[in-house]
Amino acid sequence: MNEHTAAILVVEDETTLARNISVYLGRYGYVVRIAESAEAALATLADFQPDLILLDCHLPGRWGLDAMPDLLSRARGCRVVVMTGHGTVKLAVDAMKAGAADFLTKPVALSQLRGVIEQSLARERDGRLDEISHDVGLARRAPPEVEGLVGESAPMIELRSRLARLREADATLAGTRLPSVLITGETGTGKELVARAIHGDGPRAAGPFVEINCAAIPSSLLESELFGYERGAFTDARERKIGLVEAASGGTLFLDEIGETEPALQAKILKLIEEHSVRRLGGLRAMPVDLRVVAATHQPLDQRVAEGRFRADLLYRLRVFEIPVAPLRERGDDIERLARHFLHELGERYRKPSLTLDTEAIAAIQSHGWPGNVRELRNRVEQAVLLSVGARVGASDLGLSVHAPAEASLAARSTATDETHAAPPGSRAAPSDLRALANAERAMLQRALDETGGNVSRAARRLGVSRDTLRYRIEKFGLVVPR
Ligand SMILES: Nc1ncnc2c1ncn2[C@@H]1O[C@H](COP(=O)(O)OP(=O)(O)OP(=O)(O)O)[C@@H](O)[C@H]1O
Ligand SMILES: [Mg+2]
Repeated sequence: MNEHTAAILVVEDETTLARNISVYLGRYGYVVRIAESAEAALATLADFQPDLILLDCHLPGRWGLDAMPDLLSRARGCRVVVMTGHGTVKLAVDAMKAGAADFLTKPVALSQLRGVIEQSLARERDGRLDEISHDVGLARRAPPEVEGLVGESAPMIELRSRLARLREADATLAGTRLPSVLITGETGTGKELVARAIHGDGPRAAGPFVEINCAAIPSSLLESELFGYERGAFTDARERKIGLVEAASGGTLFLDEIGETEPALQAKILKLIEEHSVRRLGGLRAMPVDLRVVAATHQPLDQRVAEGRFRADLLYRLRVFEIPVAPLRERGDDIERLARHFLHELGERYRKPSLTLDTEAIAAIQSHGWPGNVRELRNRVEQAVLLSVGARVGASDLGLSVHAPAEASLAARSTATDETHAAPPGSRAAPSDLRALANAERAMLQRALDETGGNVSRAARRLGVSRDTLRYRIEKFGLVVPR
C-alpha cells in the first residue's frame, strides 16, 4: 500500500479537521505534518520539505492566500492545494493566480481530498513541462490501484458482461480510436470504480488515468483546466499550461459529473471525442491526442437535453457505449456480500479482524433502502467497526434499525456530541430510536444547510455545533450542500 511517500504539510487551524486529514492520509502512506497558522507553516518549512501543502484560506494571523508567495519561495517545487469554506469563483481564481495547483471547497470529503492530492502530485504544471509528448510525470506514475468490483447479483453479472464486450470491441479496434463510454448511476453506486476498471483492464492501462470532477471546478476554470492555454491567451496566462486532455494522452480521461458542464464546453468535448485532437486556449494548432474518454453522471441526461442544458449530439455520441450501474437496493444478496467484504477490509485496517455481523444487523442491512448506495454501506460499516466493542456488529452499530422508522424525536438528541466518541459501550439506545434520531438529525441538518444557502459556518452556528462536527455529519449522511 505504501507506494506514496510524499510529504504533506496541512495548514489548518481547525484541529479536528487537521487531525482527521492527517490520520486519513497517513493510512495511505503519506508523511503528514500539521501547522495551525501560516506563521507556524513557515517555521515548519525550516526542517520539513513537503511535496504538497494543503492550505486553508481562513487562518488566524496571516491569511492563507497572502502567505502563499512566502510559502512557495521557501518550499521550492512544492504544490499548493487551497481549501476554503466559501467556494466563490473569485476566490478560486485568486488561488490559481497565486499559484495554487488546485482548489477545494469545504466540507472536504476525505476521499475527494486524496484524489485531488494524487492528481496534483502527478500532474506536471505551468510550464514545468516543455513537451507534452514527454509527460513523464504522468507516465511514470503507477497505474491506479483497481479495487475489485464485488458482486454476483444479476445487475453485477450484466455489468461485467458489458465490460467484457467493451474489451472485445477494444481488441478488434486495436490501434485505432477507442470508443467513449458513459457510466450512469445514482450517487455512490461505484461509477468511479467502474471507470478505473475500464482503464486498468483495457489497452490504455499503461497510460495515465486522469480524472476531473466537472462539478468541483468553477465552470470558468474548467475549460482551461481541460484544454490548457498558450502563453498570453489571456491577461494572466504568463506561462503556457498543458491541459488535462493532453496530460491524459495515451491513457484515459475520466470526466466525472459531465452533466454539470456548460453547453459551450460540451461542444468542445464532442469535438475532442470526434476528432481526437485538442487546441489550447489561444493556440493556433490542433494537436492530436490519443486517449479514451470515460464520462460519468448521476443525472438523467435525457432530461437535461430536454431542458436545453445538455447537448443532444454529445449525449448520442457518449451513449454508443453506456454502462448503467444499478442502485444497491436492486442488488439482492450483494448487499450482504458487500457488507461482509467491507467488514473484513475495514476490520483489518482498524485491527479488529474477527468481527462478524449478528442476525439483527443482517436483517437491518436487507431492509434498509440504501439511498447513498455502496458508499453509504461502506461508511456505515466503517462507523460500526469503530464503534463495536465485542466481536459482533449489531444493527445499532450500523446506525440501522430492523423496524420501520419510529416517530422522530428531536428533543431526545443532543446536537453537540462528536459522534466518533458518542455511544459509550453499554449505553446504546434501541435500534428503532437510533434510526429515528438519525432521520430527524439528517432532516434538521439539511434544513439548516438549505436555509443558510449552504453556508456551513452559519448552519453550524445555528445548530449550535462546531463547523467540524457539522462537516463530519454532512459527509456521514451524504447531505447536499446547496450552492
Ligand atoms: N461493487 C463494488 N465493490 C466494492 N466496492 C465498491 C463497489 N461499488 C462501489 N464501491 C465502493 O463504494 C464507494 C463509492 O464508489 P464510487 O466512488 O465509485 O461511487 P460513484 O458512483 O462514483 O459515486 P458519486 O456519484 O457520488 O461520485 C467507493 O469506496 C468504492 O470503492
Ligand atoms: Mg464518483
